[in-house]
Amino acid sequence: MSYSRKIMITGGAGFIGSHVVRLFVKKYPDYLIVNTDALTYAGNLENLKDVEHLPNYKFEKADITDEKRIDDLFQQYAFDAVIHLAAESHVDRSIMDPLSFVKTNVLGTAILLNICKNAWKGNYANKLFYHVSTDEVYGTLGETGFFTEETPYDPHSPYSASKAASDHFVMAYFDTYGLPVVMSNCSNNYGSHHFPEKLIPLMINNIKNRKPLPVYGKGENVRDWLYVEDHARAIDVIFHKGKLGESYNVGGFNEWKNIDLVNLLCKIMDQKLGRKEGDSASLIQYVTDRPGHDLRYAIDATKLKNVLGWEPSLQFEEGLNKTVDWYLQNEEWIKHVTSGNYQNYYQEQYQARTN
Ligand code: NAD
Ligand code: TYD
Repeated sequence: MSYSRKIMITGGAGFIGSHVVRLFVKKYPDYLIVNTDALTYAGNLENLKDVEHLPNYKFEKADITDEKRIDDLFQQYAFDAVIHLAAESHVDRSIMDPLSFVKTNVLGTAILLNICKNAWKGNYANKLFYHVSTDEVYGTLGETGFFTEETPYDPHSPYSASKAASDHFVMAYFDTYGLPVVMSNCSNNYGSHHFPEKLIPLMINNIKNRKPLPVYGKGENVRDWLYVEDHARAIDVIFHKGKLGESYNVGGFNEWKNIDLVNLLCKIMDQKLGRKEGDSASLIQYVTDRPGHDLRYAIDATKLKNVLGWEPSLQFEEGLNKTVDWYLQNEEWIKHVTSGNYQNYYQEQYQARTN
């Protein structure tokens, strides 16, 4: 079969990547999708069980910092586009081990850009490097205001600093070499297949198992939550219609204080698990705050709405209900991802906070 596009999706075995791969493989049978992923602790091929049999899907286990291996894949497949999601993605891990974030997020992105530049050799027609980034590069907001595409970068964690550096490399390749790039900066995602080191799946798992619910500081930090399938739809729109050299903010118009969100999850789960109201909330435990903890993120996504017509589709309570149902129905998935190393990570991360 000859495909109309041949796309490398990096990080396709992770949380957001797996939703993007699923959307593209199903929606575009004439595109070849090559999921290129190192399968770190966060990568899991179980996330793609439902689409792995499709003829336009391929998996290649590869580390984006392995220049020779990525170059070989370019020779083999002659990609005309990359959608780049592979990254170390968890802020708390970046505080424990910043250099692995520099390696994957900064060096890995630069290697991919350079390989695209060399493989496409100035013949940039119908080529695209799409970089998936985060709103955390903008730093923190006070009580009011929103991040727009013009907000200056001001990252505070090793994670956000590494993503900011990678974003700068992407734009530098556009400015210097004319490499066709597009970028998006999205707010916090939630949904199925989310690794339980992040707030929402960690709380769901702990509520289910009646374990303490560790809320950092006073629980007053604010995040803007977007359903992961809405993010995947935004990536689809920007991939096809985004203007080269531009970035697009993606957000849920949906701000929540952490403590209010945890209480809402407790309420939803009390109902679903047949517990007395207030039962799960009694597990809440305030713990030592994250160093450099950004107070508030909130995205102004009007550019994406006005220019490309994208909007979030799900109300938050509906999305949370779907998410909780998925976790309750997929015990095996949780069992697999929380065995072994997860236990060591959890102990190292949370023991110190509660002492
Ligand atoms: P994730 O941690 O769930 O998945 C990351 C994936 O990248 C995993 O499959 C992992 O195996 C792979 N990977 C890591 N290092 C690699 C390497 N060196 N080579 C190849 N593959 C490697 O992350 P996620 O939450 O799905 O985030 C995906 C992207 O979206 C990241 O770039 C992240 O910065 C960005 N983002 C995430 C959020 C969010 O709320 N999760 C919000 C905005 C932007
Ligand atoms: P997280 O899911 O790690 O995303 P990010 O830091 O990238 O926004 O955390 C979301 C918010 O929840 C953040 O303010 C930190 C807080 N948090 C807790 O209070 N307890 C936890 O156990 C975790 C993982 C996060």
